[in-house]
Amino acid sequence: MLNILKNWKNQQNAASNLERYTKEDILKGEIPAHIAIIMDGNGRWAKKRSLPRIAGHHEGMKVVKRVTKLANQLGVKVLTLYAFSTENWKRPKMEVDFLMKLPEEFLNTYLPELIEENVRVKIIGDESALPSHTYKAIEKAVKDTEQNDGLILNFALNYGGRTEIVNASKALAEQVKSGTLNIEDIDEALFSKHLMTESIQDPELLIRTSGEIRLSNFMLWQVAYSEFVFTDVLWPDFKEDHFLKAVGEFQQRGRRFGGI
Ligand code: IPE
Ligand code: IPE
Ligand code: MG
Repeated sequence: MLNILKNWKNQQNAASNLERYTKEDILKGEIPAHIAIIMDGNGRWAKKRSLPRIAGHHEGMKVVKRVTKLANQLGVKVLTLYAFSTENWKRPKMEVDFLMKLPEEFLNTYLPELIEENVRVKIIGDESALPSHTYKAIEKAVKDTEQNDGLILNFALNYGGRTEIVNASKALAEQVKSGTLNIEDIDEALFSKHLMTESIQDPELLIRTSGEIRLSNFMLWQVAYSEFVFTDVLWPDFKEDHFLKAVGEFQQRGRRFGGI
């Protein structure tokens, strides 16, 4: 029985490997203006190699660089990367401390290159709860790249979708209370502007790696009509080919938005 299952799985893998897309193929189709990625599976990648979980996070950082570069080459306007959720504070302190050092390492290593590539760094999430060293590194990157008008590399750091919606509601309620806003004027567009994504358009494509099929509190409002691509590939193994394949899958979808 186990062998039958194994063969079946191998055939599935072989079939999916056949579907390879080159950058040129992808550029012939519609490029999603905003791609969001739930970068998952770092811990399992490390475990498979008998390495500490943090080794997986470190490896995952290199993938961020490669995917950013490719997204920029494809003409993607916004790439939002889920780097740390409001729930991730539950992890062991040592792991959280490591994760909070990664933005600095990433930016120290790659900021000059990002600037050269005209990338603009942004952040969504509750920055006030970040350690000051993390906060300072990010603020510097945001400031140093604010003149750039290429790809927006938007890090979701200490981000939670429900808190974001609650905070937008509070901000609107305050305005109604102070008399500067009429309840009748609250609509979807105004609500969207009060989210952390502000003027950034909703993602057309959401990718999650590592085989988990859930949102984990990510962009709950913004993904209302996104196309979802779930892949079993663990984030540190996610290569350019996988990214192209996800965009290729997006290009095959029929998006109807409730129409016919
Ligand atoms: C994703 O990888 C990175 C973060 C959540 C910070 P994980 O650390 O969740 O890896 P798994 O899911 O345990 O394999
Ligand atoms: C989601 O991954 C958060 C990030 C990728 C930053 P998790 O690994 O934290 O999600 P769960 O716990 O499996 O839902
Ligand atoms: Mg995970």
